[in-house]
Amino acid sequence: MAKEKIRLAVIGVGIIGESHLRTYRDIPEAEVVAICDINEERLNDVGDRFGIAHRYTHIGRMLAEEELDSVDVCLHNNMHAPVSIAIMRAGLDCYCEKPMAGSFYDALEMMRVAEETGKKLHIQLSFLYSRETKAAKRFIDAGDLGEIYHMRSYGFRRRGRPFVDGYGRKEFVNTTTSGGGALFDMGVYHISQLLYLTGIPELERVSGRTYAKLAMDEGRRLESGYNVEELGVGFANYKGGLSMDILEDWAVHGRPFPSSIIMGSEAGISLEPLVIHSRKHDLETDTTVDLGEMDYLEHTVYADGAHYDSSQQHWIHALLGKCELLPTAKIALETQRVQEGIYFSEMLGREVSAEEIEKMSVSKALEIPNLAL
Ligand SMILES: NC(=O)c1ccc[n+]([C@@H]2O[C@H](COP(=O)([O-])OP(=O)(O)OC[C@H]3O[C@@H](n4cnc5c(N)ncnc54)[C@H](O)[C@@H]3O)[C@@H](O)[C@H]2O)c1
Repeated sequence: MAKEKIRLAVIGVGIIGESHLRTYRDIPEAEVVAICDINEERLNDVGDRFGIAHRYTHIGRMLAEEELDSVDVCLHNNMHAPVSIAIMRAGLDCYCEKPMAGSFYDALEMMRVAEETGKKLHIQLSFLYSRETKAAKRFIDAGDLGEIYHMRSYGFRRRGRPFVDGYGRKEFVNTTTSGGGALFDMGVYHISQLLYLTGIPELERVSGRTYAKLAMDEGRRLESGYNVEELGVGFANYKGGLSMDILEDWAVHGRPFPSSIIMGSEAGISLEPLVIHSRKHDLETDTTVDLGEMDYLEHTVYADGAHYDSSQQHWIHALLGKCELLPTAKIALETQRVQEGIYFSEMLGREVSAEEIEKMSVSKALEIPNLAL
């Protein structure tokens, strides 16, 4: 008989783990049967509030003792690879938070293990499920843009470095746990959105710079050992002549530019807010889309909209065979490739090729004390 519910466990019930639990509560086909966190006080607090009785501080023990279909990894970046790999090797499908891992090397290992074990691997890339992305995809897939030749990946925060500027924990701003800064944290959303919309183009070369120049709270700087970029910029060349410029910042003395944009010979698309720019009858035109109506139709007339409501809902529906899983692991891997290329370019002071990134990238995976039995 076909499964009606997916039995899940969540590892790491911090800020995002708790947010995942709230989302699963609203997905009738998802049943969270166990949670795991090394911080026992937090584990029990979350377990009590969400009514989850099966609680573990040891990941390996939970994987061995619980009957699960899928496990959701909400740990810090440099723990994603070893834990996701262990989950897939234990015969379970794996959902992992973004960025895919703390380095391209580790992300590639995750991909290899997914292929080797035949287990599903899904990375949280929430922008793929936005109404803007869905509408943009229709225009692009219909060929309305003509030849797509350039795109801009753009993210802005005036003052929003995790931990040192308030929100989030110190693990975001130290490479030992995070692997990278603004590019890894928020850049992942903007870059992956564009790679998805343009059919996952193949990277050829990338150059870039990273910066950390603005003052920050001294106590929090010392406590976190802050050593990541607050601003990352890059220029990437893809096969077939497509290029992408990237600007991602957590903190800058400036005001926002317009949003990410995709430029084509026949039309362009600004993604936030969604506007289709084109020329009709020799007039420059800007078209907006009724996204609410699109969403309504997708949930009524077409009725498959629910499969793409959120990253988690998509995962559950894909596991139940209601829809095909989007290739989020591949998109996240290619996102990580260009991001890490910018770091290598900064280090070497020159452009780097896609092959060099693959050769130079090393594992940043942490030892996980509570993983092996
Ligand atoms: N905070 C956000 O808004 C946000 C949003 C999207 C994605 N993310 C991603 O989620 C991940 C976690 O971020 P967070 O903000 O939730 O961090 P967090 O510090 O709030 O949560 C991490 C949790 O993992 C637990 N943990 C650490 N080591 C463990 C181990 N060995 N075994 C079991 N549990 C362990 C910690 O005790 C903590 O409760 C990161 O990869 C981040 O990029 C965070």
